[in-house]
Amino acid sequence: MADVRTMAAPAGRRGTFISLEGIDGCGKSTQATLLADRLEAAGHEVVRLREPGGTAIGEKIRKILLDPQNGAMADECELLLYEASRAQLVREVVAPALARGAVVVCDRYLDSTYAYQAGGRGLDASLVSRCNELGSCGVLPDRTLVLDLGCEDALARATAGGADRLEQEGMRFQERVRAAYLRLAKAEPARVRVVDAVGSVEDVAGRVDAALRDVVVPCRCGDAGVAHE
Ligand code: TYD
Repeated sequence: MADVRTMAAPAGRRGTFISLEGIDGCGKSTQATLLADRLEAAGHEVVRLREPGGTAIGEKIRKILLDPQNGAMADECELLLYEASRAQLVREVVAPALARGAVVVCDRYLDSTYAYQAGGRGLDASLVSRCNELGSCGVLPDRTLVLDLGCEDALARATAGGADRLEQEGMRFQERVRAAYLRLAKAEPARVRVVDAVGSVEDVAGRVDAALRDVVVPCRCGDAGVAHE
């Protein structure tokens, strides 16, 4: 069997992988869309993805995960479904896109599993990290932005249109998820950066660009190719 890590080898990876993270309602989906628009305008091939989902199989898994009627789902089942959706996404979309030099912008990736299933649900963190290795096929983002917003503001935004199964968990859960994200940023400062998500969409977009400057060229200036650290 192929070593899952070979897919992340620099030789087979010409593109740039960016993931956006944060608690429900932090505004990351808006920022992911706007970032992808800016990168496209700058001449990059951009692949826009969201987790869970992003493939035909993954979208089916997403429906199971977010269905409010699946309240009886075991934490371990939930963990493995997120990883299953991720593995399909990496094999089918992310790895080929990175190999051909695209910029992949992913709305949530493996750090969501750490924050929600370890931080939020309380599953063993080292076990979740092992599962993340498998689900990601060893492919890590070049840069992960955690959009950080107070839980009250974020939850009010997230549930304005009705709460899905995860959002129904409430404030304490979101607090644990937020704390886990902040721990991650401390543990992996080269990859994971916290972006203050308070303020206007434009203000936050400016902070997003600033936090990406060393991994991707956000403007059309000569070669539209991407730079790696
Ligand atoms: P979604 O409606 O896409 O929420 P958002 O717009 O906030 O991303 O639902 C995704 C939900 O799944 C969200 O509550 C976070 C949760 N989630 C996990 O618990 N673990 C994971 O690994 C991932 C990718 C998402």
